[in-house]
Amino acid sequence: MLAQANHGDLHPVSMSEGNPATAEFSKDNPFPARVVENRLLNRAGSAKETRHFVVDLGESGLVYKAGDSLGVYASNRSSEVDEIIALLGATGDELVTPLRAPAPLPLREALSTGLDLDGPTKKMVEITASKVADPAQKAQLEALLAPEAKEQLEEFLYNRSFVDFLAEYPTAKFTPQELAGMMRRLMPRLYSIASSPRLHPNQIHLTIAVVRYHTNGRDRVGVCSSFLSDRVETGQTPVPVFVSHSHFGPPEDPSVDCIMVGPGTGIAPFRAFVQDRVALGATGRNWVFFGDQKKASDYLYEEEWTDYLAKGQVHRLDLAWSRDQAAKVYVQDRMRENAAELWAWLEKGAHFYVCGDAKRMAKDVDAALHEIIATHGGMDAEAAAAYVKQLKKDKRYQRDVY
Ligand SMILES: Cc1cc2nc3c(=O)[nH]c(=O)nc-3n(C[C@H](O)[C@H](O)[C@H](O)COP(=O)(O)OP(=O)(O)OC[C@H]3O[C@@H](n4cnc5c(N)ncnc54)[C@H](O)[C@@H]3O)c2cc1C
Ligand SMILES: NC(=O)c1ccc[n+]([C@@H]2O[C@H](COP(=O)([O-])OP(=O)(O)OC[C@H]3O[C@@H](n4cnc5c(N)ncnc54)[C@H](OP(=O)(O)O)[C@@H]3O)[C@@H](O)[C@H]2O)c1
Repeated sequence: MLAQANHGDLHPVSMSEGNPATAEFSKDNPFPARVVENRLLNRAGSAKETRHFVVDLGESGLVYKAGDSLGVYASNRSSEVDEIIALLGATGDELVTPLRAPAPLPLREALSTGLDLDGPTKKMVEITASKVADPAQKAQLEALLAPEAKEQLEEFLYNRSFVDFLAEYPTAKFTPQELAGMMRRLMPRLYSIASSPRLHPNQIHLTIAVVRYHTNGRDRVGVCSSFLSDRVETGQTPVPVFVSHSHFGPPEDPSVDCIMVGPGTGIAPFRAFVQDRVALGATGRNWVFFGDQKKASDYLYEEEWTDYLAKGQVHRLDLAWSRDQAAKVYVQDRMRENAAELWAWLEKGAHFYVCGDAKRMAKDVDAALHEIIATHGGMDAEAAAAYVKQLKKDKRYQRDVY
């Protein structure tokens, strides 16, 4: 059995190779996998950075099914960890006890793998205001804490991570323990698996949008997407992973039709579904709705989709390029254009799946689905809502949104 995390509840990553053949890998005991492929999916001229990763499951014994997700434990950028240690005037060897950690651990280790360096809350502003020696800065922070400054406080926090506080308010003189006590535990990130075990029993494929942005004078990165993209050396760096099993998945009955709506990285599980159904020889039809910014640069897995279509393994492929013309075109517009047929598929028992952005896309697709059912089923809004409710109850309407 592999050793468990040596520091209680923080990053549960032992990295011990142990005896993988008999180990049971899980969220608490992740498998140190290797990434064997890291490839940019967008073409020249794209505004996006979406990457295809292949994770080798080696001798882990890990099993997965189409619809599951992979959990990944990332490490923070060493440049940011070094900067925080320098701004604290520390060496990195100081022992700190983060919130809910049962035992102390060295500051550098806590900042590298245990703690989220992003996401300061109002409490960080309050404590900085109480500690800062510069009267103008104290007044500025106190003004942000006033009840009427809620929006300004939100914006102030949105644009800052912990390192900004240390750099901007040096007279607050945080100790390593004070800082570590304000940070949340670094959580693993989940990624929808983009491959089927019927085709790739020993690999897991992922489709990941790398998060990069600039705020408050600094270039920032998403912890896990940049870890996989920039800091993991192909074939070398151990990447702690676990399989998160899900109820989301293709129909058990291979004769059932599938409608899959997955713009952007939302396409990931549907690549897995189609691989799975083709490998199984499923007789049910596959209808894929995909969209992204520009056809020339953002058509993820274009060759695979055109090949499936040519072979009759994907029966319908409707594409929505939001930035190829003046007015935005989204997947739900393509659904509306094909409403009668979509309704006919549903009435024949098709399952309806959505994956991708939860904040806007999934809500708008849900609204379009209600509208299509009402119009083509001749129902009022209430009856259409009841129809959708029944779809969900029958597990024919499933979502994997984030
Ligand atoms: C079930 C599930 C499946 C998922 N599947 C996939 C998938 O297949 N592919 C995929 O790419 N992702 C997927 N995700 C999302 C993924 O888990 C991560 O949330 C994503 O990769 C970002 O993680 P990160 O660590 O790189 O970024 P983080 O370090 O978590 O940073 C992201 C945060 O940065 C901040 N931020 C981002 N842009 C800006 C900006 N412009 N200005 C200010 N702040 C900003 C926001 O606060 C945002 O929440 C999935 C999520 C779930 C729950
Ligand atoms: N914070 C946010 O508001 C937000 C929104 C979307 C995605 N994200 C995150 O950004 C990362 C990358 O996302 P991604 O590559 O998967 O793709 P994405 O940014 O979600 O975009 C994929 C496609 O969906 C379109 N889209 C935007 N709004 C939509 C809506 N309301 N309905 C339908 N389609 C819509 C986009 O168009 P346009 O971009 O041209 O409008 C684009 O063509 C993910 O981690 C995702 O969670 C964040």
